[in-house]
Amino acid sequence: MTTLLNDSVALGGRKGGSGETLQIRGGHPLSGTVDVKGAKNLVTKAMVASLLGDTASILHDVPDISDVAVVRSLLEVHGVRVQDGDAEGSLVLDPRDVESAHMEEIDAHAGASRIPILFCGPLLHRLGQAFIPDLGGCRIGDRPIDFHLDALRKFGAVVEKLPSGIRLSAPGGLHGANIHLPYPSVGATEQVLLTAVRSRGVTELKNAAIEPEIMDLIAVLQKMGAIISYEPNRVILIEGVDDLRGYEHRAIFDRNEAASWASAALATDGEIFVGGAKQQEMLTFLNIFRKSGGWFDVREDGILFRRGGDLRPVVVETDVHPGFMTDWQQPLIVALTQATGESIVHETVYENRFGFTDALNKMGAKIAVHPHGLQNGVRRVPRRTLEQAAVITGPTPLTGADITVPDLRGGYSHVIAALTAEGTSTVRNVGIISRGYEKFFDKLTGLGADFDVVG
Ligand code: UD1
Repeated sequence: MTTLLNDSVALGGRKGGSGETLQIRGGHPLSGTVDVKGAKNLVTKAMVASLLGDTASILHDVPDISDVAVVRSLLEVHGVRVQDGDAEGSLVLDPRDVESAHMEEIDAHAGASRIPILFCGPLLHRLGQAFIPDLGGCRIGDRPIDFHLDALRKFGAVVEKLPSGIRLSAPGGLHGANIHLPYPSVGATEQVLLTAVRSRGVTELKNAAIEPEIMDLIAVLQKMGAIISYEPNRVILIEGVDDLRGYEHRAIFDRNEAASWASAALATDGEIFVGGAKQQEMLTFLNIFRKSGGWFDVREDGILFRRGGDLRPVVVETDVHPGFMTDWQQPLIVALTQATGESIVHETVYENRFGFTDALNKMGAKIAVHPHGLQNGVRRVPRRTLEQAAVITGPTPLTGADITVPDLRGGYSHVIAALTAEGTSTVRNVGIISRGYEKFFDKLTGLGADFDVVG
């Protein structure tokens, strides 16, 4: 069994501490090249998909991040043999000996991840039952997985809530279903895909998410023998088949990591070439990047990002694809603190994604968060009750501070803010950044960042 990656390893083995606290001397541009691998948001799902095959799968361009390590060990507790492939970043996943795992084992390996929920469909097909551990009140209340459970019930699964978690069974097997998602949730769309491909009959999914990572998961499933068609207006049709085989696939690049480095170049007034970044999946980001004063050059093997002049304020609304992704707003906000004028970021996807701005304000930024949103502006999608807005007034020089990372993208933004700021910052709890950024410390070093790992 593989042990979970040590966070400091995934961050890029720099010596000096446990990899949890950085001392950063800011005020210098980040310049150089970083390469991005496969998207976290595809790789972890493609790994789960391997459970559906009756032969081994091979996945290329797998990043060395802790979310991948979590899914790897969850697969292993279910009897999937996971081995490193011949090429760097390749995994071979052999599901021929899949077996039930104990709730405690699943719980121990799940960490804070929501990935166990995506094991349900494949495990119901393979074993007739599945467990989701109770990951704790705020992490797995009914709400964040209600679309998933409703969909699974429509496929014929019996959902039983126990004190220790949720048990699912499918006494009569799973059958195709007509599902209309209340919101185009990425996870719930993946749940339906991973369940429908081997269910009896046809499944029609309405209001599906159509993120590029979902299209790549569809490509993976098609390679396995699934029959999936994508219709206009967010409708996906899946014709169930009896058997699927293993796949070989190179994961789509991580557009979230690419956008993060682009914003880092913008914030620190540097120049970063992101190897492996592609234009198509980043069209919406590139438009906003340009409007805010960024300059980019799309090349055969990646995209070069830097400022094209003074930074300008922008109004952004996060949205499902093809809109501006919620994961892109936090690093961009760091850059917007340096733009002249008032920028507005409407967050429509998650209810609580501006917590990281407190630390930026501590460093001298002027960001006002409106927890119930702002009424101005026309929404592309109907207003959601959870909408929030941040108003960023710039330019504000940032100065070093002692700050603690709250979450993955917020944490990345804190590090970039500290690199933008004059003086020294202490940034705590940076280990969480290893969930989504491979060799983070090495990449920062390669870009000329001046920092020490102190704890
Ligand atoms: C995925 C991505 C994340 C991205 C997000 C939106 C992964 C590992 N993560 O997260 O990076 O920011 O899509 O693009 O792929 N919701 C419910 N009930 C449910 C499911 C979702 O109410 O059963 C709500 C959520 O609370 C949230 C919204 O739907 O407000 C969107 O969530 P969803 O699209 O499911 O995000 P994830 O798949 O978790």
